[in-house]
Amino acid sequence: MHKVLIPTKLDKFAADMLTQKGYEVILDASSPIEEQVAKNPDAEVLIVRSEKVTKEIIDALPKLKLVVRAGAGYNTIDTKYARKRNVDVMNTPGANSNAVAEEVVSLMLAAYRHLLPADASTRAGLWEKSKFMGHELTGKTVGILGLGHIGQLVVKRLSGFDIKFLGYDPMISPARAEEIGVESCSVDRIFAEADCITLHIPENEETRGMINRRLFEMMKPGAMLVNCARAGIINEEDLRAVKAEKKIIYCNDVYPKDAAGEKSVADVADIMMPHLGANTFEANFNAAKRAAEQTIAYFEQGITNCVVNKALPDGLDAGFQKLAYVLTSLTRAYLGNENNPTRIETSFYGKLADYAKWLLPPIVAAIAKDFAVEQGPKEAEQFLADAGVEVVNRMVDNSKHYGEAMTIDLFVGGADGLFKAGARGTITENNPMISRLDEFDKLYFNPAGNHLFVEYADEPGVIGRIAGILGEKNINIVDIRAPQNVKTGRSLSVITTNVEVPEMLVEKIREAVNATKAFSFSFEG
Ligand code: NAD
Ligand code: MLT
Repeated sequence: MHKVLIPTKLDKFAADMLTQKGYEVILDASSPIEEQVAKNPDAEVLIVRSEKVTKEIIDALPKLKLVVRAGAGYNTIDTKYARKRNVDVMNTPGANSNAVAEEVVSLMLAAYRHLLPADASTRAGLWEKSKFMGHELTGKTVGILGLGHIGQLVVKRLSGFDIKFLGYDPMISPARAEEIGVESCSVDRIFAEADCITLHIPENEETRGMINRRLFEMMKPGAMLVNCARAGIINEEDLRAVKAEKKIIYCNDVYPKDAAGEKSVADVADIMMPHLGANTFEANFNAAKRAAEQTIAYFEQGITNCVVNKALPDGLDAGFQKLAYVLTSLTRAYLGNENNPTRIETSFYGKLADYAKWLLPPIVAAIAKDFAVEQGPKEAEQFLADAGVEVVNRMVDNSKHYGEAMTIDLFVGGADGLFKAGARGTITENNPMISRLDEFDKLYFNPAGNHLFVEYADEPGVIGRIAGILGEKNINIVDIRAPQNVKTGRSLSVITTNVEVPEMLVEKIREAVNATKAFSFSFEG
């Protein structure tokens, strides 16, 4: 029986549905998530709304497999750390979109008609008709950043107002945008031309602070910005500076922290809501139902399509990440593990070219033991930049017909200058296969188990001598590949053995055949 902890005010429907399906459910929002987690360390599933799921929370739940965010934005969850701990994180996309879209329409109308100050003034006994002269939404140009679930619903809900819609979303083609009634254009054009701009993008490394002074300055006087997405997307200081210079209207639903207390944005926001976008009974019910359904589908059918922290993009076989790790580890051993690479060059053939950034984490994991593949592409790039390692992803010549193959070259700086080695491999019949190591082509061996690599000037009898030394120690040879490079006259023997060849024996072989390189290498799993 899976134990589900719901330390939040989520519609009881989720707990009931899970309980009926035989899950053990703790639904308790009476104390903070930290306390609930401490009381239920055996929970395998955590269903949250906007509670922060930090590294500490994840570590406090050693059996945790799944975190479900009953909602859309998951910037409150340490998704990277969850991945590192092999915990899947899901959201419930679309469950609360209508609530937000309706809030956006309300805010636009309320701001244009001075609804809130006019109400307060009239209650105070005043009669300020001329002060509250308003604007009509009908016929205006509305710009939408992010044409996902909410962005598209905003278009639908506003469509009775004869609006001209401009939109930007890198994942939505201009043709698809046209289908939903939106003219696809640049962010700059949206800010320059729209009367009302509404944000429906996630907050992440790319979007944090993206609505900045340059964009605010482009806004027409009197234009409106609605932020029901996330606080971090706008640069509040820049908004303050521009608002001091010209009249723009700002409607805000989101804050760095969901809590009572003074809000820094108060002096620049014309309307402020306490993060009410999804705060409807209908949305809470939808999110609860989806959270329960997704949890059940995850455990019973292995359905992971709402997982937001996959280590792999759809379409990339995990075997290729493993291959990148193996090729890098082997090249590193060939160069001498004591040498740290200063430059990495990669070639990804066939459809692997589309996944280059996803193949970088295993390369970094192979050269830095404290880097985990699950940390993701951005972290891999950052790790290499911090370590001063240059990365070049080369243009490839697909006319070589390598299929889905990759070459990874490492450059290390030694006392005698920069030297390099590389390996190429592919996946065949579901098994990784190494076809080249440094100057030795057509190796075609499966990197699994224990291998001895010996490089030497080719002459008759070398393999016999190596086999003799191994045989004396009762080490059995499972397979041998020994291509010769006819240009250099050197050979590389890749000998698969039943056990790992001990270091002392490797040294003995090195001396016996006058090897230029000799090392044993065991490939994991
Ligand atoms: P969604 O994932 O369906 O859509 C987000 C869209 O933004 C995607 O189509 C994506 O391609 C696009 N996008 C990403 N980066 C972009 C960029 N730099 N420029 C333009 N487009 C970009 O998500 P959704 O359900 O529409 O929700 C959007 C955001 O709204 C959530 O991430 C969440 O932070 C916020 N939200 C707020 C409330 C609230 O209560 N105020 C409720 C729900 C969601
Ligand atoms: C969401 O991302 O779903 C919303 O912001 C709702 C919330 O956090 O309560």
